[in-house]
Amino acid sequence: MNDKILVLDFGSQYNQLIVRRIRELGVYSELVSHEILATDIIKDQTIKGIILSGGPHSVYDDDSFQIDEHIFDLNIPILGICYGMQLMMYKLGGKVEKSLSHEYGKTDIEITEENPLTKGLEKKLTVWMSHGDIVSKLGNGFIETATSKSTPYVMVKHVDKLLFGIQFHPEVSHTPQGINMLNAFIDLTKAKKTWSMAQFIDFEMHKIKQIVGHKNVILGLSGGVDSSVAAALLDKAIGKQLTCIFVDHGLLRLNEGDEVESYFNKNFNLNFIRVDAKNLFLDRLKNVSDPESKRKIIGQTFIEVFEQEVSKMHHVDFLAQGTLYTDLIESGTKSAQTIKSHHNVGGLPKHMRLSLIEPLNTLFKDEVRVLGVELGLPKTLVNRQPFPGPGLAIRIIGEITDEKIEIVQKSDYILRKVFMDHKLNESVWQYFTVLTPIKTVGVKGDQRSYEYVLAIRAVTSVDGMTADFAHIPFDILATISSQIINEVSGVGRVVYDITSKPPGTIEWE
Ligand code: XMP
Repeated sequence: MNDKILVLDFGSQYNQLIVRRIRELGVYSELVSHEILATDIIKDQTIKGIILSGGPHSVYDDDSFQIDEHIFDLNIPILGICYGMQLMMYKLGGKVEKSLSHEYGKTDIEITEENPLTKGLEKKLTVWMSHGDIVSKLGNGFIETATSKSTPYVMVKHVDKLLFGIQFHPEVSHTPQGINMLNAFIDLTKAKKTWSMAQFIDFEMHKIKQIVGHKNVILGLSGGVDSSVAAALLDKAIGKQLTCIFVDHGLLRLNEGDEVESYFNKNFNLNFIRVDAKNLFLDRLKNVSDPESKRKIIGQTFIEVFEQEVSKMHHVDFLAQGTLYTDLIESGTKSAQTIKSHHNVGGLPKHMRLSLIEPLNTLFKDEVRVLGVELGLPKTLVNRQPFPGPGLAIRIIGEITDEKIEIVQKSDYILRKVFMDHKLNESVWQYFTVLTPIKTVGVKGDQRSYEYVLAIRAVTSVDGMTADFAHIPFDILATISSQIINEVSGVGRVVYDITSKPPGTIEWE
């Protein structure tokens, strides 16, 4: 068992980053609700340290997130960050009030007293602040160890206990020495630095083998990063006991279905089933223009096809899914300010009576990519851009036809190729083409043409929740436009979407 450091979630936008940093430093970390009780923490001997995250509230507000105060008596090292520090002071006899001057962004601070967290660091440091409240009186037994022009208590420590507070954010890259401070905190907790991807693979394989025994597992493979990495991990653990079902709805990118099939057949022991259900999906989507109806039809048909395939198999007991840690957090914690709408293609009906296996549910997306590489998956697969479950159906505005699918597939292929040639795929988060239902007049070879308007969408983003349109150089856009118009019949005009999210969304439907 790994030692672990808990991060209590008080709603900061940076709280997942704290967890990531601790893991990067070699210790397993988890984000848990701020409502966790001291009695629960005592039961888990692997918890060696606790970090109280930042948060958007004021500790003195009636509706602010609170903490079980017995946690401070547990004799486990605690580090409060921003709101977390203010809450610790407030609960332990100090005072917190609105600051007259808010501090946001880069701030210079000065170390005034020794503190194990700043041992070996310069006396003057630049850190990243983001707070509207300040601690105006320290909690009992605490002393100041660093200060800034407008904030007296920038870093504090308890004189006898391993309790520390930091007003700024050590987890962000704008606090260059923050990583040293977090590392120093880990050292104080004496947590063993055993967390690594290789160790994760060993541990999960062992766990999967134990749970599955001689039984069989199915997995819905989409060809995307998460389900592919989950499949690779399960393949390593149980090989032929795993069957991957790849439902091809005919709305994938050009050649994608064949590529997924050939890759999985060549490189793994698992059983691979590709269900060619294009006709069924397109039949049901005939004359349907409304985006939500398209999503519903695709979701329901997907489940139906999947279920039918499973019913042909004997004795399936488990359903494996590539659920990520962020999927759980986003749907699970009460503290999160932004809640992502659920995009995945439906859940499977309960009557299937399958137990769930989710081997990636402690990992972040970039950790899943590292895991994929460690498991031998090619970089092209591991670094793939996100692709929506309903596929090209939501990139064809209005009714879907074979001709329109072909236009989107071919234009998307050209776009991807030009992006790769210019290495834009490394910096742009997601890029694709969208076929509008509008036709416009043009001239092609002295002839009047009347063809579709096609849009290019390319965005930069960190997590898909917000996005900006990518600032692609005009000459590259010109190359893409002329190649598409020349090579994709049916397209008469190409436009570039310059809308950010919000107010737009990334996909058009
Ligand atoms: P939006 O369009 O909401 O997209 O800004 C955010 C991210 O989610 C993807 N997306 C979907 N993924 N099923 C999915 O699996 C869907 O119905 C769906 N709609 C959007 C989108 O591609 C982007 O990465």
